[in-house]
Amino acid sequence: MKGDQTLNGNCVVPYVVDDPNIAIMAVDSKSRLVYANGTYLRVMGFKREEIIGRHIEDIVPMTKTTQVLKTGKAEKAYFIPLNGQNTIATCHPVIKEGNIIGVIGRSLFLDMDDAHLVTAMVNKLDDDVRSFREREKHIEQKNNGFSRLIGQNISFKKIKKLAKAISGTDSTVLLTGETGTGKDLFAKAIHLSSPRRQGPFIRVNCAAIPEQLLESELFGYEEGTFTGAIKGGKKGKFEMADHGTIFLDEIGEMPLSMQAKLLVVLQEKEIEPLGSQSQRSKKIDVRIIAATNQKLDEMVIEGRFRQDLYYRLNVINIEIPALRHRKSDIPMLAESIVEKVCHRMETVKYTIDSEVIRVLQNYDWPGNVRELENVLERAIIRAAMEGSTSIQVEHTGELLRKNVLPPLELAPSCQTTDLKNYLQTHEKLMLEEVLHKTRGDKYLASEMLNIHLSALYKKMNKYGLPQKAYS
Ligand SMILES: Nc1ncnc2c1ncn2[C@@H]1O[C@H](COP(=O)(O)OP(=O)(O)O)[C@@H](O)[C@H]1O
Ligand SMILES: [Mg+2]
Repeated sequence: MKGDQTLNGNCVVPYVVDDPNIAIMAVDSKSRLVYANGTYLRVMGFKREEIIGRHIEDIVPMTKTTQVLKTGKAEKAYFIPLNGQNTIATCHPVIKEGNIIGVIGRSLFLDMDDAHLVTAMVNKLDDDVRSFREREKHIEQKNNGFSRLIGQNISFKKIKKLAKAISGTDSTVLLTGETGTGKDLFAKAIHLSSPRRQGPFIRVNCAAIPEQLLESELFGYEEGTFTGAIKGGKKGKFEMADHGTIFLDEIGEMPLSMQAKLLVVLQEKEIEPLGSQSQRSKKIDVRIIAATNQKLDEMVIEGRFRQDLYYRLNVINIEIPALRHRKSDIPMLAESIVEKVCHRMETVKYTIDSEVIRVLQNYDWPGNVRELENVLERAIIRAAMEGSTSIQVEHTGELLRKNVLPPLELAPSCQTTDLKNYLQTHEKLMLEEVLHKTRGDKYLASEMLNIHLSALYKKMNKYGLPQKAYS
């Protein structure tokens, strides 16, 4: 390499490898050409001494080297004509001790057929990527979890809104609610709507792991820690959840000794696998969602749950209402559950008799939505055994049938507690009764009902009541 290729004391040339099939050039930090290989000179039609030291934009006005000098970021695989010939080029910055000291450009010559082929391929890949991204976005939105949470009850909608709002943050969440209210579903939905959705979602059921195994399950262990330990050690759930979410389910079941260890992890944001030296603790980046059906505040008073841990977990509390406190959601939930079960069983869609809904709404659901799912699944099976595709009261099981209340006295024909439905049924009954009494005399009937004659006609129309036939 020649001395005139060194400018400002910084030589970029040693980074360049000559290649007879590729045009290679290099510029210094002031965009002056400091190197050009034979191919480059031949294509550009210059002698070396004619162009070395000249500003690159004087030679190739469309060059990307000046941009790379500014950004320090490589420009890869772009098309650029060199003296009228098509090339595919790449520009890399040369960085020394943190400073951009120059740029190296390489251009591969293409004949036009190749170029079209590559362009077509790139365009197709581009289209594919775009359509995959769209599809993924669509699926993600559809399954983002919150859409799976059914309920129009005001307090349910409120907590759903809160959960959505805090999904975007990294705050610790404590989900409370009776068994079967949807704590798992909420935890998953929060994760799937969070910026961590591409990361793992790791669920730990604190009640299901024996006390003596819990520590190694959560924090892992190093090789040779104890007999029977897996070779190479084992990753704990916290490490598995790195860059994602860890869901500590049934946190109320965690023994006090583990609560102390968990607290340290939450404070330090690092874990120390069993059997490791203290300097081998690992930093972890996890979002924590905990859930329980127990009253943690009461457990704190009773000394069964650490107060400091309780405060750490209870940053955002989402209390999911029991199903018996949102019975108006039962029809909607039942519909969706039946649809889900039928889909899973690959059968036709079963219908639900309106009397069944009334029975379902009269029950208290200690097992909440999970119990409702079980009851409906069993009802579908019973109906299927009778060759029916309509779920009737007799399919719902004795427990629920025992809960059937006598129909509302006021409304012998009204089978729901839906107010609008109730009023309409009664309005129709009343109109029929009065029209019978007046033997179809609309004028008299409107007087008795204290409504305008035209209103009476409208209502008769609405309910399909005949104009005659009342005598
Ligand atoms: N709001 C809801 N909408 C639809 N399904 C629900 C809802 N809440 C609970 N479920 C269903 O009920 C069952 C129990 O929910 P889960 O999240 O496991 O409850 P938990 O963790 O509180 O015991 C699951 O099959 C879940 O899909
Ligand atoms: Mg659960």
